[in-house]
Amino acid sequence: MLSINQAEVVFKTSLGDVRAVDKVSLSVESGMTVALVGESGCGKTTLARSILGLQELTGGEILVKGKSMKSYGSKIVNELGMIWQDPFASLNPRWTVKKSIEEPFRLAGVSPSTEELLLHVGLDPSVADRYPHELSGGQRQRAAIGRAIALKPSLVICDEPTAALDLSIRAQILNLLKDIQAEFQTSFFYISHDLSTVQYIADYVAVMYLGIIVEEGKTEEVFSSPSHPYTKALLESAPTLEQLQHLPDPLPGEVPDPRNPVTGCKFHPRCKFAQEMCSMEVPVLKGEAYRQSACFFPLKGFTDERRAGN
Ligand SMILES: Nc1ncnc2c1ncn2[C@@H]1O[C@H](COP(=O)(O)OP(=O)(O)OP(=O)(O)O)[C@@H](O)[C@H]1O
Ligand SMILES: [Mg+2]
Repeated sequence: MLSINQAEVVFKTSLGDVRAVDKVSLSVESGMTVALVGESGCGKTTLARSILGLQELTGGEILVKGKSMKSYGSKIVNELGMIWQDPFASLNPRWTVKKSIEEPFRLAGVSPSTEELLLHVGLDPSVADRYPHELSGGQRQRAAIGRAIALKPSLVICDEPTAALDLSIRAQILNLLKDIQAEFQTSFFYISHDLSTVQYIADYVAVMYLGIIVEEGKTEEVFSSPSHPYTKALLESAPTLEQLQHLPDPLPGEVPDPRNPVTGCKFHPRCKFAQEMCSMEVPVLKGEAYRQSACFFPLKGFTDERRAGN
């Protein structure tokens, strides 16, 4: 469905280069949800924008159903849908919901059935004649989802689609995405830093840190036995539903300024397991197919004492 091969985006800034996406390879298969997680600034949105052709790659390639984005031209709207964190990014504030939803239909030259689509995403058809600011956050995101799936695209990219919604609405939106997937076999590429959401929705998860994928695997395996110390720290810093009563331990330190490249493993300055070689050599993704981690001292099969003792 989607194949990202050695994708690279380097921003040239006056203060130095930012390797926002650094030779990332990932694939999303038909009917699957692949999540991309990582802290703020690690390159998630830049990768999403590249998939949509809104951001030029400086290296590598991204293929949709085996073909380059460019070969689709304007027909790409039939294959890819997009849901942003801010529904105002998909719905024009000056247009009625109906007009925003019908825009992709118009581009594709097909006749719309906006009312049916609104019912599909759990909205009353009367919403069609309203403006985005007249809707609640949850209704607005439903309308934006309606727009994204209007042409039944095979792949929908979601960038933090529930981040701006409160917990109860968040669950409804996730269930809506799951229903859409069951009905249309849609693949989702789901970007989020909310791990509980990812655990609920994703089959497969890739963990990104400073532009690179440090670990990937089936969601339940990565969550139950993280192999990379960054993944472990990310999981420990995430509040579970029970823990929401009190604040969790924050991840130690901060993401370094991407303009000052870190030598060796990019995570080593913040890693409590780092050893000498971690600052000198760059670890590559290794492991079995569908379960990989880029760490010289992966956690899987190691206890903390053994690591500390060696
Ligand atoms: N147009 C740009 N010019 C220069 N640097 C940029 C540009 N866009 C993004 N960056 C830098 O690229 C890095 C990745 O940014 P990106 O928005 O992809 O992160 P993110 O993972 O989506 O973060 P968040 O979780 O906060 O949305 C950051 O260091 C950011 O400052
Ligand atoms: Mg982002």
